[in-house]
Amino acid sequence: MAFEKICTLDDVWEGDMASFETSDGTGVLVVFASGGELKAFQSLCPHQGFELIDGKLEGHVLTCTAHLWEFDVRSGKGVNPMDCRLTVYPTKIEGNDVYVDVTKVAPFDSYS
Ligand code: FES
Repeated sequence: MAFEKICTLDDVWEGDMASFETSDGTGVLVVFASGGELKAFQSLCPHQGFELIDGKLEGHVLTCTAHLWEFDVRSGKGVNPMDCRLTVYPTKIEGNDVYVDVTKVAPFDSYS
């Protein structure tokens, strides 16, 4: 399996984020940063696996509510600490539909 429709552009407004699941149960966090582009990330924090949808999105920085790790949603790279990152899933938009491919990269974690 490759690209799979995960949502539509109507589901994630600019400046917001939403969590979805692929048909195989992979959690995907879709983030549409203000003034940025739409990106799809692993849905669980790589620190201890808390749901990132419960975090706070401010500009380009997503903060996990559990222990306040921060990620740059333009790249998935860690802001604090800097030696962490989120998996970025390949994404494409066709018309109003958003597709992701979760088959080629695995989520990062430091808790398993
Ligand atoms: S689980 Fe996200 S910062 Fe600890």
